Amino acid sequence: MLEFFITATDTDAGKTYVATSLVCALVNKGKRVAVYKPISAGCQQINSVLINDDAQLLQSAANCQQSITDINPIAFEPAIAPHIAAQQCQKTIDIEDINAHYQKLKVLNADVIITEGAGGWRLPLGNGKFLSDFVKQNKQKVILVVNMKLGCLNHAILTYQSILGDGLECIAWVANCIEPMPYLQENITELKNLLPIPQLAYLSFEKDMEIAAQQFDLSTLLR
Ligand SMILES: Nc1ncnc2c1ncn2[C@@H]1O[C@H](COP(=O)(O)OP(=O)(O)OP(=O)(O)O)[C@@H](O)[C@H]1O
Ligand SMILES: [Mg+2]
Repeated sequence: MLEFFITATDTDAGKTYVATSLVCALVNKGKRVAVYKPISAGCQQINSVLINDDAQLLQSAANCQQSITDINPIAFEPAIAPHIAAQQCQKTIDIEDINAHYQKLKVLNADVIITEGAGGWRLPLGNGKFLSDFVKQNKQKVILVVNMKLGCLNHAILTYQSILGDGLECIAWVANCIEPMPYLQENITELKNLLPIPQLAYLSFEKDMEIAAQQFDLSTLLR
């Protein structure tokens, strides 16, 4: 079983977009794919269940018949930093809990588990813990989504170095182009120099994630 963790240079950088289109690409290849979004903040309460858009998108692409609460066990209503949302409702975010829910996915017999992070790499959980500690404990291979905009070179290299500093493998990066960027190609060339790992995809602005799915070089992941 392959286990990948999707992180990004920042929040709103395209983690869900990349994770969902990557799941589509893997499913199109005939793989059984399970998904995990351990923590979300920004949910709608429907029939007393907190429903998060990211978890729903991931659910729609994956093919292991997971419930929304199995995909996203820790959910908060306001779209604020999760540890603050937790404090507001007198809860703590427990890394053992995140681990336990992750272990439950293992029985699904998936070929690949794709986990989407929250925010950027060093997302605080409170009590001095970070979501990156969960990745460290489970040794997932990390995929870095770079939102191609001014400032992304600094964010990309800091994130890459931080992942390596945690003793983890950052196996590939994705250039995600949501908005026009001056000197885009020059910036991508510089990232290719700075990040000594394969580029998994170049994604231009495209609403249809099935089309985005065709842009992935899966040989990087499935070798
Ligand atoms: N390549 C793209 N083409 C078109 N729209 C995109 C692309 N990448 C991302 N988007 C859009 O940009 C917005 C932010 O992307 P997304 O939700 O994937 O970011 P995120 O990193 O998952 O954010 P969060 O930190 O909230 O989980 C979404 O509306 C998404 O549909
Ligand atoms: Mg997201």
